[in-house]
Amino acid sequence: MGGNFGDEGKGKIIDLIMEHYELTVRFSGGANAGHTVKTPKGVKIVSHLIPCGLAQNKTCVLGRGELIDLRLFAEELRDAKKILKNKIPQIWLDEMSPVWTPWHALLEAWLELNLGKKKVGTTGKGIGPLEGLHVLRISPVLGQVLGNKKELLASLEILYNALLPILKELEAITNHQPINRRATLSPSPNPSHDREGNKPLRIKIPTPKEVAGELIKYQKLIKNKVIDTGYLLSQNVKAGKRMLFEGSQAMGLDNHFGTYPFVTSGNTVAAGASLGTGLPMEVFNSTIMVAKILPTRVGAGPFISEMWERKKAMAFAKEHLNLFKESSDREKFLSAMLKKINSGKASRAEMSQYFQVLGDERGATTGRGRSLGFLDIPWLHYACRINRPKFLALTRFDMLSKIKSIPVVVAYKYQGKILPPGKLPPPWAMGQVQPIFEQWQCFKEDISGINSENHLPTSARQFISRLENRLEVPILLVGTGPGREDIIVRSGQI
Ligand code: GDP
Ligand code: IMO
Ligand code: MG
Repeated sequence: MGGNFGDEGKGKIIDLIMEHYELTVRFSGGANAGHTVKTPKGVKIVSHLIPCGLAQNKTCVLGRGELIDLRLFAEELRDAKKILKNKIPQIWLDEMSPVWTPWHALLEAWLELNLGKKKVGTTGKGIGPLEGLHVLRISPVLGQVLGNKKELLASLEILYNALLPILKELEAITNHQPINRRATLSPSPNPSHDREGNKPLRIKIPTPKEVAGELIKYQKLIKNKVIDTGYLLSQNVKAGKRMLFEGSQAMGLDNHFGTYPFVTSGNTVAAGASLGTGLPMEVFNSTIMVAKILPTRVGAGPFISEMWERKKAMAFAKEHLNLFKESSDREKFLSAMLKKINSGKASRAEMSQYFQVLGDERGATTGRGRSLGFLDIPWLHYACRINRPKFLALTRFDMLSKIKSIPVVVAYKYQGKILPPGKLPPPWAMGQVQPIFEQWQCFKEDISGINSENHLPTSARQFISRLENRLEVPILLVGTGPGREDIIVRSGQI
């Protein structure tokens, strides 16, 4: 599971350890996830709905807690077949998973529009409405797509009628002002509209019959894949099979324990694996928390250790696309910034820019620039309190290569007092937290691709031990690059 605000490198760590497991299971979220895997042959796979075990041909289960957008599932499967040359494992989906309709996406657009400046900045995949309308008991589920057509239609009509006043309002609004395309429909059921320009986007509200017709088109694709996955998983537990449960999103985005309301809409914490699969808690024997050395956040919401202003950081990647491609401009920019950072003259904005470009910190699902923060120990204490990880996987350690020293948040001061480890103020008061920094020595060497702790410079080893001592959780894995082999497995930790 993710320890920060998403995009920690869960995909890479899952891919790394996958060979020890027979099954791979997703249990929450949906197409909002974007998990990147880079195979030893340099092939890049970004998985959204299908667990990362796909890349290693391991049986993939999309558990009951996962939200299913059939169009995106079909697209992802088609692309994976191309990349993996048709070497696709068995994939199972759950008959009771909530299923996406265009109305979910329209409701999300309406909500974000109404929130205005307070909008969540979602990935636009209809996640909130899918989860929320399921809790309200009026959303269709996957098994119905394969069932009796009349019943599917009746179920869609209930949802349609409940949402109609909102949909009509959205339709009226969009005749007058442009709306956020990303948050609306992607890909769109109404391909005639302009997706990139700034012209008002006209909404076409599909009828229940039209939606049923669209869903039914996927019957052939999913016919032999939709089952009661919880039962299948319980049989695998009985047979002693090793299963890997793939967290999506992260601690900070959990609906209850993250920075509500700037969160996603499900349980992203480790306990979600039980709720999202129907397996009892005692079958899970260890949690690995993936944390990145410099946490990132996209969308809105508190981020105590953030380096720069969110909007500016998110826009930077779009405005300076040339710096994110191999070029002499990029090299010049990085070396000038590095000099400035090491001379102590770089502003927080410049540090953010340097690390964003260096790490190509752009969303795997939306392409938005990710805003960076400093390593935040109190936050990780909180994440460890909620998830009780057995191990930590620390990714992107190579980002600190050639850096003399870096600020690290070591405590939170709130209402004049230092908070004890594991304690956070409520999200609405996080803006009042004063992060207390220490300057930690980094390392002048480039550690990219190093895969043995013995080959790390002493200062890098000291950095890891120092962090491990503060967190009181063993750091088992340390990432030194995006590839499967760019990893240090620390001995004596298991
Ligand atoms: P996820 O959503 O948690 O799976 O993470 P993403 O795939 O969205 O983003 C993580 C990015 O970091 C991907 O581009 C990975 O290839 C990359 N990555 C993962 N681990 C490392 C690492 O140790 N070093 C570097 N430089 N990149 C890494
Ligand atoms: P992975 O699994 C980073 C964020 C969005 C937004 C908030 C709510 O790749 O780490 P949603 O569309 O879920 O309703 O958006 O959550 N968000 C993510 N940020 N990585 C993700 O997934 C995310 N999934 C959702 O940016 O702030
Ligand atoms: Mg991601």
